[in-house]
Amino acid sequence: MEIFCQDVMLNFILETSAYSDYFSYIKKGLAMENEFLQIIRQRRSVYNLNDKINDKQQQILNLINESVKYAPSSFNSQSARVVVLFDEQHHKLWKITHDCLQKIVPEPKFASTKAKLKAFDAAYGTILFFEDETVVSELQNKFVLYKDNFPVWSEQANGMLQFAIWCGLAEMKVGANLQHYNPLIDEEVRSTWKLPPSWKLIAQMPFGGITQPAGEKTFVPLEQRIKVFW
Ligand SMILES: Cc1cc2nc3c(=O)[nH]c(=O)nc-3n(C[C@H](O)[C@H](O)[C@H](O)COP(=O)(O)O)c2cc1C
Repeated sequence: MEIFCQDVMLNFILETSAYSDYFSYIKKGLAMENEFLQIIRQRRSVYNLNDKINDKQQQILNLINESVKYAPSSFNSQSARVVVLFDEQHHKLWKITHDCLQKIVPEPKFASTKAKLKAFDAAYGTILFFEDETVVSELQNKFVLYKDNFPVWSEQANGMLQFAIWCGLAEMKVGANLQHYNPLIDEEVRSTWKLPPSWKLIAQMPFGGITQPAGEKTFVPLEQRIKVFW
């Protein structure tokens, strides 16, 4: 609504102003900014997912490729690794998670855990995010001064990649959420998909068609979170 009003106002200015070239320039800038912000707003944790993604498989793979390639990393180390699980492979992951959790969650509580896992399993696919620890330790050895920072920066960079992909999926109207069943499932995941031992699992992102959008979100007032100095 807010964006719509802005657009209407801008169009009015554009049509009536003698400085239409100038306003057209401004409008272009704002439209681009709005598009970007709209996607950021659109990204939510969507838990009610299905396996209907309307032939978006290739588009999703393209998004993952481009995000992995272009997301930033400290010293351009590019230590993030990704595994994409579609169809049966995706179901395998949630079976592994189910079996691992069943061993440790007390029986009375397992029903709710099981329901949660069933919802992830109902999605179309899952993206697994890793960090290659070999790359991180090489950097630690090379730049001893920053030794303690590299593991932190590696996780931060992985988060940026997760956010890029999460937003990209939202833009395609594909719902997703972020899970952390690591390190519980690490060994099984590594052996099932024969992954290098240096790949450390960071997060799991199930994605799919949206059967129910995310609920209301509350916000801490921005004045408490941002300070601006001119
Ligand atoms: C670093 C990080 C870890 C998160 N871990 C989980 C998780 O393990 N399980 C989960 O259901 N949601 C997880 N979330 C999702 C948050 O709960 C969610 O982003 C937050 O409540 C805001 O809701 P929104 O994503 O709809 O904007 C995580 C989010 C972030 C950024």
